[in-house]
Amino acid sequence: MKIAVIGTGYVGLVSGACFSHFGFDVVCVDQDAKKIASLESGIIPIYEPGLEAVVARSRQKGNLTFSTELAGAVNDAQAVFIAVGTPTKAGEDQADLTYVFEAGRQVARLITSYTVVVIKSTVPVGTANKLRAIMLEANPSAQFDVASNPEFLREGSAVDDFLHPDRVVIGVNSPEAEKVMRNLYQPLSASSVPLVVTSSTSAELIKYTANCYLAMRIGFVNQVADLCEAVGADIREVALGAGLDKRIGLHYFAPGPGFGGSCFPKDTRAMIAMAREHKVPVSIIEDVVVANERRRVAVAPRIAAVLGVAVQKSKIAILGIAFKADTDDIRDAAALEVIPALQAMGATISVFDPAAMEHGRKTFSNVEWCNDIYSAAQNADAVVVLTEWNEFRGIDFAKLKKAVRGTVILDFRNLYLPDDVVKAGFSYHSLGRASRSLL
Ligand code: UGA
Repeated sequence: MKIAVIGTGYVGLVSGACFSHFGFDVVCVDQDAKKIASLESGIIPIYEPGLEAVVARSRQKGNLTFSTELAGAVNDAQAVFIAVGTPTKAGEDQADLTYVFEAGRQVARLITSYTVVVIKSTVPVGTANKLRAIMLEANPSAQFDVASNPEFLREGSAVDDFLHPDRVVIGVNSPEAEKVMRNLYQPLSASSVPLVVTSSTSAELIKYTANCYLAMRIGFVNQVADLCEAVGADIREVALGAGLDKRIGLHYFAPGPGFGGSCFPKDTRAMIAMAREHKVPVSIIEDVVVANERRRVAVAPRIAAVLGVAVQKSKIAILGIAFKADTDDIRDAAALEVIPALQAMGATISVFDPAAMEHGRKTFSNVEWCNDIYSAAQNADAVVVLTEWNEFRGIDFAKLKKAVRGTVILDFRNLYLPDDVVKAGFSYHSLGRASRSLL
């Protein structure tokens, strides 16, 4: 089977590469000629563990190509995936579908035989039906169906998530489309991955339900962590004790500086906008959004409160600016809120991140960029962990102690055992457990 994938962002590139890994003939299309040229020369524009190897293998086999030409790509493809961006509209909460609809129009004009047009981008409920109407308007004689096939990939483990998913959701409105989609995912269903076949409308809502539920869990555990601090409980014990109940579970139950990234913040807002349009109250999700924003804003004052020196005279080392570990993505990362707030208070900032420094340099100003943990910590009054990189877990506290001028560690990812940190001569402030001062 031949597949075309429109959009070589996270979702498009990972999906295209993984479908080629299954053995399908895949053409990934993007209008960004520079991006296509660099993909052609084997350069992967995003940091995603494992992706480079999958792309290289398929390129060698010859069943993964990159192109700027939509016509050649969709010509004899049985399935065309639309994986273009759906950014939040400026000043609004709704997803902007301009690129999805434009891609659909172009495909409608180009296809010459029955094709399943698959929406991979995260889109509001009802988009598959709207896209169908738009495509028919562009070419009334086009033979096609529109399917919704939401993705559940996490940045940092996207390849593994694609190849070993918990389930695949296929939203279709015709038996022909269902057949094509089942064929596409046969390599996974053959290894017992459940295919959940639904209407396109249900599939669209499944995606928002999943992301909003996970965001809600994080919002919840963040508030429980605050309560732990107030009453003297330990969030690790509380989360373990509650999470071992199978109805609750242990995943997505770790407190942090507030969720970020390109999905949860966008999708929670889009779900609210969708519900408002249909006059359905979703106050729980509204609270999740407000609580997350409040949590973000509270990080910088929390740092300032325990510094032990005046913020205006302080140097603060930030470890991690990516919105989470194993990615170079800083979209909606905690650092975007925290660094400017500390700078506005007069602090000097040094930063180390194992992968996101290039994006950081384009985003932050007046920051000292450092090549490792210990040079960032040089003469710092406080060391602040914002991202849970494995590299930070293995920190050498004795070496860190020699570098710093102060004694404060603020860990917004609970990476360390309080005893270890305090024994090394630091005051330790983490989430959902008592702060530990120097003995
Ligand atoms: C999320 C979903 O997990 C994917 O299933 C989905 O496909 C994707 O959005 C999407 O819609 O494209 P992603 O944004 O890559 O994936 O990142 P997550 O690993 O889910 O983390 C999101 C945020 O929650 C991060 O800021 C992370 O630090 C935070 N988080 C996560 C916590 O604070 N605590 C946790 O226990 C887990």
